[in-house]
Amino acid sequence: VTISVIVVAAGSGERLGSPRPKAFVDLAGQTLLEHSLQAVRGLSPLPQVVVVAPEAWVEPARELARGILGGDAGLSVVAGGTSRTESVRRGLGAVSTNSEIVLIHDAARALTPTEVFSRVTGAVTSGAKGVIPTLDVVDTMVPRNRETGVTSAAIDRDGLAITQTPQGFDAVTLRAAFSVFEGDATDDAEVLRASGVDVISVEGDRDTLKVTYPHDLEV
Ligand code: C5P
Repeated sequence: VTISVIVVAAGSGERLGSPRPKAFVDLAGQTLLEHSLQAVRGLSPLPQVVVVAPEAWVEPARELARGILGGDAGLSVVAGGTSRTESVRRGLGAVSTNSEIVLIHDAARALTPTEVFSRVTGAVTSGAKGVIPTLDVVDTMVPRNRETGVTSAAIDRDGLAITQTPQGFDAVTLRAAFSVFEGDATDDAEVLRASGVDVISVEGDRDTLKVTYPHDLEV
């Protein structure tokens, strides 16, 4: 099976309050992008890798990616867009046409272990069209009005899950879903669901959450 991994790293990271785009911020001596690629490098065989970087960061991203993956074998770096969905769309354009499985990973999830990539790939190989890593919700979740701060009755958390990346897809199904999708989605599973395809879950990783706020970088 031929696999491609798209690492989306084109976000500005405004909530992080850093002058650099989020994927180029340092965490324990390496950028978030490098950490993410390290997990990808653990896969065997090495998949095709597509990095989506902010326009002005395409060359630095290429250098960093070469440093982790070695050489240029199967590496593409493309410029992202103004939304995550647009960035994924551009990454998809650089995915090899003979890839059968496409994984899409947020560079902001820098410490996701290789095992999660393998688990997701395994489920797609076994026939699922779309696969996401998820976690049980352990906190009580309530609707909250952002303006007034008023909260309402808790949502039954048994019926909820937290979603992570990498999200994995049958390549043909993913391309078809993106070709008809309009607008923005916060993840790619949502694009598949919009075209009526079921997305199944595998166990995510409790130890590694998404780097979003400055506090998340304190290790
Ligand atoms: O903004 P958020 O944290 O949801 O971004 C998730 C991932 O999508 C990040 O890795 C970010 O770099 C990427 N992204 C992107 N292009 C955008 C916005 C976000 O590649 N325009």
